[in-house]
Amino acid sequence: MTDIAEYLKPGSHLLKEDDETPRDWHRLIELAAILKKQKKSGTEVHYLRGRNIVLVFAKTSTRTRCAFEVAAADQGASTTYLDPQGSQMGHKESISDTAHVLGRFFDAIEFRGDDQSQVDILAADSGVPVWNGLTAQWHPTQMLADSLTMAEHSGGKPFSEITYSYVGDARYNMGRSLLINGALLGCDVRIVAPRELWPDQEVIERGNEIAVATGASITVTDDIRLVAGSDFVHTDIWVSMGEPKEVWAERIELLRPYRVDEALMELAGPNAKFMHCLPAFHDLNTTVGRQVFEEFGLNGIEVTDQVFSGPRSVVFDQAENRLHTIKAVMVRSLGSL
Ligand code: CP
Ligand code: NVA
Repeated sequence: MTDIAEYLKPGSHLLKEDDETPRDWHRLIELAAILKKQKKSGTEVHYLRGRNIVLVFAKTSTRTRCAFEVAAADQGASTTYLDPQGSQMGHKESISDTAHVLGRFFDAIEFRGDDQSQVDILAADSGVPVWNGLTAQWHPTQMLADSLTMAEHSGGKPFSEITYSYVGDARYNMGRSLLINGALLGCDVRIVAPRELWPDQEVIERGNEIAVATGASITVTDDIRLVAGSDFVHTDIWVSMGEPKEVWAERIELLRPYRVDEALMELAGPNAKFMHCLPAFHDLNTTVGRQVFEEFGLNGIEVTDQVFSGPRSVVFDQAENRLHTIKAVMVRSLGSL
Protein backbone atom coordinates (compact mmCIF):
# COMPACT_ATOMS: atom_id res chain seq x y z
CA MET A 1 0.00 0.00 0.00
CA THR A 2 1.27 3.51 -0.84
CA ASP A 3 2.19 5.57 2.18
CA ILE A 4 0.27 8.83 1.89
CA ALA A 5 1.61 10.37 5.13
CA GLU A 6 3.79 12.83 3.22
CA TYR A 7 0.74 14.22 1.39
CA LEU A 8 -1.22 15.15 4.51
CA LYS A 9 -1.51 18.77 5.60
CA PRO A 10 -3.80 18.69 8.63
CA GLY A 11 -6.19 21.62 8.89
CA SER A 12 -5.43 22.98 5.41
CA HIS A 13 -8.02 25.03 3.52
CA LEU A 14 -8.47 25.11 -0.25
CA LEU A 15 -9.73 28.63 -0.93
CA LYS A 16 -7.99 29.57 -4.18
CA GLU A 17 -5.09 28.34 -6.29
CA ASP A 18 -2.86 31.28 -5.46
CA ASP A 19 -2.76 30.24 -1.77
CA GLU A 20 -0.88 27.10 -2.81
CA THR A 21 2.81 26.65 -3.48
CA PRO A 22 3.69 25.01 -6.81
CA ARG A 23 4.97 22.01 -4.85
CA ASP A 24 1.78 21.61 -2.82
CA TRP A 25 -0.31 21.93 -5.98
CA HIS A 26 1.68 19.18 -7.73
CA ARG A 27 1.37 17.01 -4.66
CA LEU A 28 -2.42 17.33 -4.49
CA ILE A 29 -2.61 16.06 -8.07
CA GLU A 30 -0.24 13.20 -7.22
CA LEU A 31 -2.36 12.30 -4.18
CA ALA A 32 -5.47 12.25 -6.37
CA ALA A 33 -3.76 9.83 -8.76
CA ILE A 34 -2.86 7.55 -5.82
CA LEU A 35 -6.42 7.62 -4.46
CA LYS A 36 -7.83 6.98 -7.93
CA LYS A 37 -5.61 3.93 -8.29
CA GLN A 38 -6.69 2.66 -4.86
CA LYS A 39 -10.36 2.99 -5.76
CA LYS A 40 -9.93 1.29 -9.15
CA SER A 41 -8.00 -1.60 -7.61
CA GLY A 42 -10.40 -2.07 -4.70
CA THR A 43 -7.75 -1.20 -2.12
CA GLU A 44 -9.23 2.06 -0.88
CA VAL A 45 -8.50 2.96 2.75
CA HIS A 46 -10.90 4.92 4.99
CA TYR A 47 -8.61 7.88 5.69
CA LEU A 48 -11.66 10.01 6.65
CA ARG A 49 -13.37 7.52 8.93
CA GLY A 50 -15.71 9.14 11.45
CA ARG A 51 -15.42 12.64 9.96
CA ASN A 52 -18.50 14.85 9.47
CA ILE A 53 -18.48 17.22 6.52
CA VAL A 54 -21.03 19.90 5.55
CA LEU A 55 -21.63 20.83 1.92
CA VAL A 56 -23.07 24.33 1.62
CA PHE A 57 -24.31 25.14 -1.88
CA ALA A 58 -25.65 28.64 -2.47
CA LYS A 59 -25.62 27.79 -6.21
CA THR A 60 -26.71 24.60 -7.95
CA SER A 61 -24.35 21.72 -8.80
CA THR A 62 -24.22 18.23 -10.24
CA ARG A 63 -20.53 17.23 -10.32
CA THR A 64 -19.13 19.09 -7.33
CA ARG A 65 -21.84 17.97 -4.94
CA CYS A 66 -21.75 14.36 -6.14
CA ALA A 67 -17.95 14.29 -6.02
CA PHE A 68 -17.88 15.47 -2.39
CA GLU A 69 -20.63 13.04 -1.36
CA VAL A 70 -19.23 9.96 -3.08
CA ALA A 71 -15.63 10.74 -2.11
CA ALA A 72 -16.66 11.19 1.53
CA ALA A 73 -18.63 7.93 1.49
CA ASP A 74 -15.69 6.10 -0.12
CA GLN A 75 -13.44 7.35 2.68
CA GLY A 76 -15.77 6.64 5.62
CA ALA A 77 -17.01 10.21 6.29
CA SER A 78 -20.58 11.52 6.55
CA THR A 79 -21.93 14.52 4.63
CA THR A 80 -24.76 16.96 5.28
CA TYR A 81 -25.99 18.89 2.23
CA LEU A 82 -27.42 22.40 2.56
CA ASP A 83 -29.07 23.44 -0.70
CA PRO A 84 -29.34 26.98 -2.12
CA GLN A 85 -32.58 27.61 -0.17
CA GLY A 86 -32.14 25.16 2.66
CA SER A 87 -30.32 27.08 5.38
CA GLN A 88 -30.63 30.38 7.23
CA MET A 89 -27.30 31.62 5.87
CA GLY A 90 -27.35 34.97 4.15
CA HIS A 91 -31.00 35.95 4.56
CA LYS A 92 -31.52 35.37 8.31
CA GLU A 93 -28.04 34.64 9.62
CA SER A 94 -24.71 36.16 8.70
CA ILE A 95 -22.01 34.07 7.07
CA SER A 96 -19.83 34.68 10.11
CA ASP A 97 -22.45 33.39 12.58
CA THR A 98 -23.10 30.41 10.31
CA ALA A 99 -19.35 29.70 10.24
CA HIS A 100 -19.17 29.67 14.04
CA VAL A 101 -22.10 27.25 14.24
CA LEU A 102 -20.93 24.88 11.48
CA GLY A 103 -17.48 24.77 13.05
CA ARG A 104 -19.04 23.31 16.22
CA PHE A 105 -20.79 20.53 14.31
CA PHE A 106 -18.46 19.60 11.49
CA ASP A 107 -14.84 18.71 10.81
CA ALA A 108 -14.80 20.67 7.52
CA ILE A 109 -16.97 22.88 5.31
CA GLU A 110 -17.35 22.89 1.53
CA PHE A 111 -18.86 26.10 0.16
CA ARG A 112 -20.13 27.12 -3.28
CA GLY A 113 -21.42 30.66 -3.67
CA ASP A 114 -21.02 34.08 -5.19
CA ASP A 115 -18.13 36.07 -3.87
CA GLN A 116 -14.74 34.86 -2.69
CA SER A 117 -15.16 36.99 0.45
CA GLN A 118 -17.84 34.53 1.62
CA VAL A 119 -15.44 31.60 1.51
CA ASP A 120 -12.81 33.73 3.26
CA ILE A 121 -15.22 34.55 6.13
CA LEU A 122 -16.07 30.87 6.55
CA ALA A 123 -12.37 30.03 6.73
CA ALA A 124 -11.61 32.84 9.18
CA ASP A 125 -14.53 32.19 11.55
CA SER A 126 -15.32 28.46 11.53
CA GLY A 127 -12.09 27.07 12.99
CA VAL A 128 -12.20 24.10 10.56
CA PRO A 129 -10.86 23.50 7.03
CA VAL A 130 -12.88 25.18 4.27
CA TRP A 131 -12.91 24.04 0.64
CA ASN A 132 -14.06 26.33 -2.15
CA GLY A 133 -16.50 24.48 -4.40
CA LEU A 134 -16.72 27.50 -6.79
CA THR A 135 -17.07 31.23 -6.42
CA ALA A 136 -17.41 33.88 -9.10
CA GLN A 137 -13.64 34.35 -8.91
CA TRP A 138 -12.12 30.87 -8.49
CA HIS A 139 -12.85 27.16 -9.06
CA PRO A 140 -9.85 25.41 -7.49
CA THR A 141 -11.28 21.89 -7.18
CA GLN A 142 -12.05 22.01 -10.91
CA MET A 143 -8.40 22.89 -11.60
CA LEU A 144 -7.18 19.76 -9.86
CA ALA A 145 -9.49 17.60 -11.99
CA ASP A 146 -8.47 19.43 -15.15
CA SER A 147 -4.80 18.97 -14.33
CA LEU A 148 -5.10 15.27 -13.51
CA THR A 149 -6.98 14.81 -16.79
CA MET A 150 -4.31 16.67 -18.76
CA ALA A 151 -1.61 14.56 -17.12
CA GLU A 152 -3.48 11.39 -18.09
CA HIS A 153 -4.04 12.49 -21.70
CA SER A 154 -0.69 14.14 -22.40
CA GLY A 155 1.04 11.02 -23.64
CA GLY A 156 3.46 11.13 -20.73
CA LYS A 157 4.51 14.77 -21.03
CA PRO A 158 5.23 16.50 -17.72
CA PHE A 159 3.24 19.67 -17.00
CA SER A 160 6.28 21.76 -17.94
CA GLU A 161 5.87 20.52 -21.53
CA ILE A 162 2.09 20.90 -21.76
CA THR A 163 0.52 23.77 -23.69
CA TYR A 164 -3.14 24.57 -23.08
CA SER A 165 -5.56 27.23 -24.22
CA TYR A 166 -8.67 28.58 -22.59
CA VAL A 167 -11.06 30.14 -25.09
CA GLY A 168 -14.15 32.12 -24.04
CA ASP A 169 -15.23 34.27 -21.10
CA ALA A 170 -11.89 34.67 -19.33
CA ARG A 171 -12.90 37.22 -16.72
CA TYR A 172 -14.89 34.68 -14.67
CA ASN A 173 -13.85 31.74 -12.48
CA MET A 174 -12.65 29.28 -15.13
CA GLY A 175 -10.49 31.70 -17.10
CA ARG A 176 -8.86 33.12 -13.98
CA SER A 177 -8.33 29.72 -12.39
CA LEU A 178 -6.85 28.15 -15.52
CA LEU A 179 -4.40 31.03 -15.76
CA ILE A 180 -3.11 30.60 -12.19
CA ASN A 181 -3.27 26.79 -12.38
CA GLY A 182 -1.00 26.70 -15.42
CA ALA A 183 1.35 29.20 -13.81
CA LEU A 184 1.71 26.94 -10.75
CA LEU A 185 2.31 23.85 -12.89
CA GLY A 186 4.80 25.47 -15.28
CA CYS A 187 2.59 25.09 -18.37
CA ASP A 188 2.43 27.19 -21.54
CA VAL A 189 -0.99 28.84 -21.04
CA ARG A 190 -2.88 30.83 -23.68
CA ILE A 191 -5.92 32.75 -22.48
CA VAL A 192 -7.80 33.64 -25.64
CA ALA A 193 -10.74 36.04 -25.30
CA PRO A 194 -12.02 39.41 -26.48
CA ARG A 195 -10.38 42.21 -24.50
CA GLU A 196 -13.63 43.03 -22.70
CA LEU A 197 -13.57 39.54 -21.18
CA TRP A 198 -9.93 39.27 -20.12
CA PRO A 199 -9.08 38.41 -16.51
CA ASP A 200 -8.32 41.36 -14.19
CA GLN A 201 -4.87 42.82 -14.71
CA GLU A 202 -4.04 41.80 -11.13
CA VAL A 203 -4.62 38.12 -11.98
CA ILE A 204 -2.49 38.35 -15.14
CA GLU A 205 0.33 39.98 -13.18
CA ARG A 206 0.10 37.37 -10.45
CA GLY A 207 0.25 34.60 -13.06
CA ASN A 208 3.36 36.15 -14.55
CA GLU A 209 4.99 36.44 -11.12
CA ILE A 210 4.39 32.77 -10.38
CA ALA A 211 5.62 31.89 -13.87
CA VAL A 212 9.04 33.39 -13.13
CA ALA A 213 9.55 30.72 -10.48
CA THR A 214 7.93 27.78 -12.29
CA GLY A 215 9.02 28.36 -15.89
CA ALA A 216 5.42 28.76 -17.05
CA SER A 217 4.53 30.98 -19.98
CA ILE A 218 1.33 33.07 -19.75
CA THR A 219 -0.17 34.66 -22.85
CA VAL A 220 -3.40 36.66 -22.75
CA THR A 221 -4.60 37.56 -26.23
CA ASP A 222 -7.66 38.26 -28.35
CA ASP A 223 -6.03 36.52 -31.32
CA ILE A 224 -7.67 33.14 -31.82
CA ARG A 225 -4.72 31.97 -33.94
CA LEU A 226 -2.66 31.67 -30.75
CA VAL A 227 -4.42 28.41 -29.88
CA ALA A 228 -1.99 26.85 -32.39
CA GLY A 229 0.21 24.21 -30.81
CA SER A 230 -2.12 23.46 -27.89
CA ASP A 231 -2.30 20.01 -26.38
CA PHE A 232 -5.65 20.94 -24.82
CA VAL A 233 -8.36 23.49 -25.60
CA HIS A 234 -10.62 24.42 -22.68
CA THR A 235 -13.80 26.42 -22.74
CA ASP A 236 -16.70 27.20 -20.40
CA ILE A 237 -20.26 28.49 -20.70
CA TRP A 238 -20.56 32.10 -21.82
CA VAL A 239 -22.95 33.23 -19.09
CA SER A 240 -22.19 31.89 -15.63
CA MET A 241 -24.35 31.11 -12.62
CA GLY A 242 -25.39 34.30 -10.88
CA GLU A 243 -25.26 36.44 -14.02
CA PRO A 244 -28.52 37.96 -15.36
CA LYS A 245 -29.96 36.45 -18.53
CA GLU A 246 -29.97 39.92 -20.12
CA VAL A 247 -26.22 39.58 -20.76
CA TRP A 248 -26.69 36.75 -23.29
CA ALA A 249 -27.07 39.02 -26.35
CA GLU A 250 -23.93 41.02 -25.66
CA ARG A 251 -21.94 37.93 -24.67
CA ILE A 252 -22.90 36.06 -27.84
CA GLU A 253 -21.91 39.06 -29.92
CA LEU A 254 -18.49 39.18 -28.21
CA LEU A 255 -17.81 35.46 -28.11
CA ARG A 256 -19.19 34.15 -31.40
CA PRO A 257 -15.69 34.21 -32.99
CA TYR A 258 -14.35 32.22 -30.02
CA ARG A 259 -16.78 29.33 -30.19
CA VAL A 260 -15.00 25.98 -30.22
CA ASP A 261 -15.73 24.23 -33.51
CA GLU A 262 -13.84 21.83 -35.77
CA ALA A 263 -11.97 24.69 -37.44
CA LEU A 264 -10.70 25.99 -34.09
CA MET A 265 -9.62 22.49 -33.05
CA GLU A 266 -7.77 22.10 -36.36
CA LEU A 267 -6.04 25.40 -35.70
CA ALA A 268 -5.06 24.13 -32.23
CA GLY A 269 -3.32 21.13 -33.75
CA PRO A 270 -3.85 17.55 -34.88
CA ASN A 271 -3.53 16.08 -31.38
CA ALA A 272 -5.35 18.79 -29.43
CA LYS A 273 -7.96 17.46 -26.99
CA PHE A 274 -11.13 19.27 -26.01
CA MET A 275 -11.95 20.00 -22.34
CA HIS A 276 -14.92 21.64 -20.59
CA CYS A 277 -15.71 21.83 -16.88
CA LEU A 278 -19.40 21.15 -17.70
CA PRO A 279 -22.29 21.75 -17.82
CA ALA A 280 -21.95 22.55 -21.55
CA PHE A 281 -24.32 23.90 -24.17
CA HIS A 282 -23.50 21.78 -27.20
CA ASP A 283 -26.93 20.88 -28.58
CA LEU A 284 -30.64 21.64 -28.19
CA ASN A 285 -31.26 19.24 -25.30
CA THR A 286 -31.38 21.91 -22.60
CA THR A 287 -33.86 24.72 -21.96
CA VAL A 288 -31.20 27.41 -22.29
CA GLY A 289 -29.75 25.77 -25.40
CA ARG A 290 -33.16 25.86 -27.09
CA GLN A 291 -33.85 29.47 -26.03
CA VAL A 292 -30.51 30.63 -27.40
CA PHE A 293 -31.15 28.75 -30.63
CA GLU A 294 -34.58 30.37 -31.05
CA GLU A 295 -33.29 33.86 -30.31
CA PHE A 296 -29.79 33.83 -31.81
CA GLY A 297 -29.76 30.84 -34.18
CA LEU A 298 -26.83 29.07 -32.48
CA ASN A 299 -27.15 25.29 -32.24
CA GLY A 300 -24.63 24.60 -29.51
CA ILE A 301 -23.28 27.73 -27.88
CA GLU A 302 -19.67 27.74 -26.63
CA VAL A 303 -18.91 24.45 -28.41
CA THR A 304 -20.40 22.55 -31.33
CA ASP A 305 -21.79 19.10 -30.75
CA GLN A 306 -19.33 17.77 -33.31
CA VAL A 307 -16.40 18.73 -31.07
CA PHE A 308 -18.11 17.98 -27.76
CA SER A 309 -19.17 14.50 -28.85
CA GLY A 310 -16.18 13.88 -31.11
CA PRO A 311 -13.02 11.80 -30.63
CA ARG A 312 -10.94 14.70 -29.28
CA SER A 313 -13.26 15.30 -26.34
CA VAL A 314 -12.11 14.13 -22.90
CA VAL A 315 -14.89 15.88 -20.97
CA PHE A 316 -16.27 12.82 -19.21
CA ASP A 317 -12.82 11.67 -18.04
CA GLN A 318 -12.44 15.22 -16.75
CA ALA A 319 -15.82 15.00 -14.96
CA GLU A 320 -14.88 11.67 -13.33
CA ASN A 321 -11.66 13.19 -12.06
CA ARG A 322 -13.66 15.66 -9.97
CA LEU A 323 -14.29 12.69 -7.67
CA HIS A 324 -10.67 11.59 -7.27
CA THR A 325 -9.28 15.11 -6.91
CA ILE A 326 -11.92 16.31 -4.43
CA LYS A 327 -11.15 13.18 -2.43
CA ALA A 328 -7.50 14.25 -2.38
CA VAL A 329 -8.44 17.72 -1.10
CA MET A 330 -10.43 16.21 1.78
CA VAL A 331 -7.78 13.61 2.64
CA ARG A 332 -5.04 16.26 2.62
CA SER A 333 -6.90 18.35 5.20
CA LEU A 334 -8.48 15.66 7.39
CA GLY A 335 -6.89 12.31 6.63
CA SER A 336 -5.70 10.04 9.42
CA LEU A 337 -3.62 6.96 8.77
N1 CP B 1 -17.95 21.68 -13.19
C1 CP B 1 -18.77 21.85 -12.14
O1 CP B 1 -18.44 22.53 -11.15
O2 CP B 1 -19.95 21.23 -12.27
P1 CP B 1 -21.21 21.41 -11.31
O3 CP B 1 -21.68 22.84 -11.45
O4 CP B 1 -22.22 20.42 -11.80
O5 CP B 1 -20.79 21.14 -9.89
N1 NVA C 1 -18.30 29.58 -15.07
C1 NVA C 1 -19.27 28.57 -14.69
C2 NVA C 1 -18.58 27.34 -14.21
C3 NVA C 1 -19.51 26.20 -13.89
C4 NVA C 1 -18.81 24.99 -13.37
C5 NVA C 1 -20.17 29.15 -13.62
O1 NVA C 1 -19.67 29.79 -12.70
O2 NVA C 1 -21.39 28.96 -13.72
